Amino acid sequence: MSLSSFASVPVLVTGGAGFIGSHLVDALLAQGAKVRVLDDLSMGRRENLAHCVDKIDFIVGDMRDREMSKRACEGIEIVFHQAALGSVPRSLETPDATLSVNLNGSSILFTAARDAKVKRIVYASSSSVYGDSQIMPKKEGTEGKPLSPYAVSKAMVEQLADVFARCFGMEFLGLRYFNVYGPRQDPEGQYAAVIPRFFAACAQGKQPVIFGDGQQSRDFTYVGDVVRGNLLAAQAPKDACGSVYNIGAQGSITVKDLANTIIRLSGRKLEPKYVDARNGDVRHSQADATRAFEAFGFQAETTMEDGLRVTRDAYLKGGAA
Ligand SMILES: NC(=O)c1ccc[n+]([C@@H]2O[C@H](COP(=O)([O-])OP(=O)(O)OC[C@H]3O[C@@H](n4cnc5c(N)ncnc54)[C@H](O)[C@@H]3O)[C@@H](O)[C@H]2O)c1
Repeated sequence: MSLSSFASVPVLVTGGAGFIGSHLVDALLAQGAKVRVLDDLSMGRRENLAHCVDKIDFIVGDMRDREMSKRACEGIEIVFHQAALGSVPRSLETPDATLSVNLNGSSILFTAARDAKVKRIVYASSSSVYGDSQIMPKKEGTEGKPLSPYAVSKAMVEQLADVFARCFGMEFLGLRYFNVYGPRQDPEGQYAAVIPRFFAACAQGKQPVIFGDGQQSRDFTYVGDVVRGNLLAAQAPKDACGSVYNIGAQGSITVKDLANTIIRLSGRKLEPKYVDARNGDVRHSQADATRAFEAFGFQAETTMEDGLRVTRDAYLKGGAA
């Protein structure tokens, strides 16, 4: 399926000042959509939207504030719900904070969307819902037990969306992202994702730190592909609603090979440093994205080498782009 235009369609991007959300805002503006953003800037950054702030309606606020969510949903046709507290380790540290934002926040937002008669909600779920399932590649319907409060929060949001869909006749599509990476992903802080962390270490001539033996594998997905998945889901036929979809590149790379690739792309001579494995991390993760392809034509298009080069170049320029 190819994309048609979003010309003049009023859309809301929650978490639009974050990594994925801000790329989604760019793509929607390029398609002519009327974009509103709701973000409390707890994790996101104003700089992510600085280049387009005069073209959007930017509401700085917490989606758990009912009035904020109500205001954000007014007159909106499609919601792209990205706002959440990410990070498995953070959720083990402060489970209540993760559940408060991800589950309670989604519940308040969905209620506001229901009351505003929003047509469709496309929301970010996560590959973490596959938990301890050993089945590879991961296919919708083969979920195991969650391994972290973050995974619990995402699994519960899926259930909540399902209940809202059945009780109120709303259109929901849940997208289970697999390890997204690209420009603007935050390299700072203890909860930074692995790719920006490795690039930041290499830039400083430090050893990239690997938790565990480095043989754990991931399906890293370029942010541009995830954005396209969102746009396709927003235009999917009605019978695609009420379901969840893997959004992944369908590849697999060990964290050790990833570290060595990033060292090479950074032009460094370094060895990764190995430290104790972390709780809550799944061992292997790889998407089977057949369902998303059959329902709305999604297929990742960016190779890991290309995606990492673009990401490296963006970090060299200061993280923008
Ligand atoms: N990055 C990944 O690899 C990945 C993988 C799977 C799922 N996801 C999901 O994708 C979505 C976007 O992730 P991201 O990587 O862009 O993270 P991010 O932290 O860059 O973006 C999340 C945004 O939500 C905002 N936010 C947080 N709490 C809020 C609240 N209460 N009210 C309003 N805004 C709030 C933050 O300020 C931030 O801008 C999240 O739902 C995340 O769980 C991400």
